[in-house]
Amino acid sequence: MSDKVRVGVLISGRGSNMEALVEAARAPDYPAEIALVLSNRIDAPGLQVAERAGVAAFAIDQRPFGKDREAHERAVDAELREAGVELVCLAGYMRILSPWFVNAWAGRLLNIHPSLLPHFPGTDTHARALAAGHQTHGCTVHWVIEALDAGPIVGQAQVPILEGDTEEALAARVLVEEHGLYARCVAEAARRIQAERTA
Ligand code: GRF
Repeated sequence: MSDKVRVGVLISGRGSNMEALVEAARAPDYPAEIALVLSNRIDAPGLQVAERAGVAAFAIDQRPFGKDREAHERAVDAELREAGVELVCLAGYMRILSPWFVNAWAGRLLNIHPSLLPHFPGTDTHARALAAGHQTHGCTVHWVIEALDAGPIVGQAQVPILEGDTEEALAARVLVEEHGLYARCVAEAARRIQAERTA
């Protein structure tokens, strides 16, 4: 039996970070495997990306659950447990998770955020970095806690902000770094989980 850590990835859209994790996990010595990709939106393009890569992927549409966020999350949680997932990675999951879900996966829930936290939590990070006149920007992988984008940092990658940069150009430069950073941080987290198994 494989000792690889089983990872569930939650997406809402394009899924390029998810795809980067799937690619990284192809390496025989990578300590994690992508067991399941779930989306809260049925039209997330990333679902097809995952399917083409041979990874189990489907949507749990949030709409039938209405305002009952936790009921939707209980359905997500049930699928993750069923798939034997030990580590959950948020990858462009555009829904704030309830305290119930965050606590259910405490220490097992990672997020990638497109800024150098603690700068620019929340949305529109690239525009805000430009407006602030910063010279560097980047991305952060962190453990998820109840407070938004505020959990312990696992890793960061920096990019320069260049003269005349647009939001799109900066976002594209950061995204390249996101893909490598997330793969490295998931490997680090997975090795820690493996070590805890034998401790
Ligand atoms: C990424 O920039 C990620 O940092 C942010 O949302 C974007 C998702 O992109 N949370 P993708 O769906 O992984 O391509």
